[in-house]
Amino acid sequence: MFPHRDLLAISALAPHEILFLLDEAEQWVKFNRLSQKHDDRLAGLTIINAFFENSTRTLVSFEIAGKRLGADVVNMHAGQSSIKKGETLIDTAMTLNAMHADAIVIRHGSSGAVQLIADKVDCPVLNAGDGQHEHPTQGLLDALTIRSAKGRIDGLSIVICGDVLHSRVARSNILCLTSLGARVRVCAPPALMPLGIEEMKVEAFHDFDKALDGVDVVMMLRLQNERMQGQFIPSPREYRHLYGLTEERLARTRPDTLVMHPGPMNRGIEIDSNVADLVDRSLITRQVEMGVAIRMACLDVLTRGVRQVEGWQ
Ligand code: NCD
Repeated sequence: MFPHRDLLAISALAPHEILFLLDEAEQWVKFNRLSQKHDDRLAGLTIINAFFENSTRTLVSFEIAGKRLGADVVNMHAGQSSIKKGETLIDTAMTLNAMHADAIVIRHGSSGAVQLIADKVDCPVLNAGDGQHEHPTQGLLDALTIRSAKGRIDGLSIVICGDVLHSRVARSNILCLTSLGARVRVCAPPALMPLGIEEMKVEAFHDFDKALDGVDVVMMLRLQNERMQGQFIPSPREYRHLYGLTEERLARTRPDTLVMHPGPMNRGIEIDSNVADLVDRSLITRQVEMGVAIRMACLDVLTRGVRQVEGWQ
């Protein structure tokens, strides 16, 4: 049914495979709303979350997902690991592999690092964000959030605004949403717009008000200061003026235009608090909720092979 061992990038998935993962996640959305949230299908399996870059929601989300499915979940933080002692990424991969992990979830600051590890280990590998490349579970959870709020993705008009240049979230979302038939716009100041972005079948804007015209969803991105060497924006104040989602700006959109942000937010820069916290228009907490369900679906689907080979479950 699902032909891939790993989940490394949305670019590797066909539209029906994306839809399969979204459909699988629906059961976990319902399940997670119960007070008793425990399933045993991954009992006895070991999942290692190897995070070489800081994370709050993605790490916790993967940890909860694995535990709710009954797996033994181990978190490895790079700060405390042998990476600090000079171990190469390949050695780390070989070490994790020798411990017979049944799935490894990896976040790394370098694009392509997760693929490198996947090539060296015997179990499914899930990319929890690699540099500026991809963040596939974020793309999937955002698609699930949009589908749950709007009932469909096909034919919707969605604008992704902010630091597109440094954003793996933007890339995975563009690939996922265009693949499911949405019309995607991207909006950024010239210095934060990747060259040749039109090749990703998106419409590029520098004027946020024009980009917002008639959209169903506006997805804001964090200014990723940690990835910027040099001056990319004149000042945070000016950035907010031109590219911030303020109450006044949102008021000019359709009343049913919904707001998203992958977190963590720079409140008062790319998004104002009174917009982020709008109960009827902001999907930000729903994104977090959908994140757990998507990760449960991915862990379940990718370990089906392991479980079947051994003839149990
Ligand atoms: C994003 C990431 O790490 O790529 N956050 C997340 O996973 N929720 C976006 C960001 O850091 O701005």
